[in-house]
Amino acid sequence: PADLFAPERINSAGVEFGDRAALERLTGAVAAAGGPGEAAPLVDGAVQGGTPRAVVSPSDARTVVGTVTEASPETAAAAMRAARKGALAWGRVLPEQRAAALERAADAMEASRGRLIHLLQAEAGKTLDDAVAELREAVDFCRYYAAQGRKLFGTPQALPGPTGESNRLSLRSRGVFVAISPWNFPLAIFVGQVAAALMAGNAVVAKPAEQTPLVAAEAVRLLHRAGVAPSALHLLPGDGTVGAALVAHRDVAGVVFTGSTEVARHINRALAAKDGPIVPLIAETGGINAMLVDATALPEQVADDVVTSAFRSAGQRCSALRLLLVQEDVADKVIAMVAGAARELRLGDPADPATHVGPVIDAEARARLDRHGAAMRRAARTHYVGEVPGEGHFVAPQIYEIPGPEALTDEVFGPILHVARYHAGDLDRVLDAIEATGYGLTLGIHSRIDATVERVVARLSTGNVYVNRNMIGAVVGVQPFGGHGLSGTGPKAGGPHYLARFATEQTVTVNT
Ligand code: NAD
Ligand code: ALA
Repeated sequence: PADLFAPERINSAGVEFGDRAALERLTGAVAAAGGPGEAAPLVDGAVQGGTPRAVVSPSDARTVVGTVTEASPETAAAAMRAARKGALAWGRVLPEQRAAALERAADAMEASRGRLIHLLQAEAGKTLDDAVAELREAVDFCRYYAAQGRKLFGTPQALPGPTGESNRLSLRSRGVFVAISPWNFPLAIFVGQVAAALMAGNAVVAKPAEQTPLVAAEAVRLLHRAGVAPSALHLLPGDGTVGAALVAHRDVAGVVFTGSTEVARHINRALAAKDGPIVPLIAETGGINAMLVDATALPEQVADDVVTSAFRSAGQRCSALRLLLVQEDVADKVIAMVAGAARELRLGDPADPATHVGPVIDAEARARLDRHGAAMRRAARTHYVGEVPGEGHFVAPQIYEIPGPEALTDEVFGPILHVARYHAGDLDRVLDAIEATGYGLTLGIHSRIDATVERVVARLSTGNVYVNRNMIGAVVGVQPFGGHGLSGTGPKAGGPHYLARFATEQTVTVNT
């Protein structure tokens, strides 16, 4: 139905950074809400013990930004037991009440923007505009799934009864959902997964990424205060071993995972190897995202959109541009303009509103990206390597030219852009190469020829296609987000078909 596509609600408001007073109110709220964060396993609302460890800033590993106590295998088992009981009770809560709790949580997140943005900056190194956008996305997920869930779960759908029988279709909760999220959207993706599973009436055991437990713990506090039953939402900070233990548990009724393709495969295999019911997996993973630029594109706009797509968020978005494919005729000019625009980027402290690019998440990510950059400088043509500020896990924006799209075979998760040229007559070969990567997450097209745009769109089934603009920052309910193939199972987050995958369907036929 049409109203599932656009349930009544509006997206949360942004902050106009050019409005000095608004920016000062925002930075003032963030500064006032500083101080260390704290995360610990939470089962039935009770904090579980363990040995806390420090959480450090990606900008400066000497700066402790909070503490986390990670879940033991015993705590994970206790959370699953509690969630099993909780699922029975939460599944009986009226959909209207579940929706209202999510809406109150959305309001609370907006009211707590200072604290949430502080934590996003402290533990994930988010720039101010990225942190604001992420908070808005988390809020939007809660309101979108609440509005949609009222309609989907509120009343059964009456179906035709051609033989005189009455037929109806209802959606029902599945039971216990395990929600496993990545560090690159530690608030929005964490909350989006949890909100959808809760709206569908499931209990949730949520495991945030080991790098970013603090903001997740804050979100759980707000969700509980907003009326989500503590028995319906349990938090288990920890690394992949905790995630693996949860996935392997016999009581899991569904898994929602966002992260790397490699870990999605592990989870898929672990679920398939279990006895008992067949457990659905919703996986949202990575991409080798390409942008095609033909000779009719506007170079200034291309430069701006490429820099935003490849380097903002330090390239740490699954949607980010990895492979720029430029028609030979304009390649020199476009590459030079992209390099020029990259030169304008300011790297540094994410707390400074003037910063465009913050650090990468940790030392391991930095080392991996530094190795890739060094290999590219040996094997490819270097067009641009920026400068890094002194301390912290910073990786400079970099642009390398590779012989063709086939030369990039893995997702490089950071601010490193690969460029290749193509001849106008080779477009089909280039499209074949994009498809051959096996990924299908985002695609950019810069062309003023409608027929070219339609030809590319028809040829590739990439999940999110952006024409003559940048290719990041999908908006909930407006640009449902997600890919296929190596990029995930679908359905799209923030889209009309997501919620139903967290539920089972029941058809009731009554011989009247
Ligand atoms: P990751 O796969 O390393 O980790 C993701 C989560 O899985 C973490 O919570 C981690 O602890 C957990 N995990 C690790 N091993 C596990 C196992 N064996 N069993 C269960 N859980 C396990 O990913 P990451 O480095 O945190 O995030 C970056 C990746 O996420 C990139 O590939 C990016 O493209 C992808 N991503 C995709 C989307 C999307 O919507 N498609 C969005 C954001 C990020
Ligand atoms: N949903 C995020 C984006 O579109 C990943 O950039």
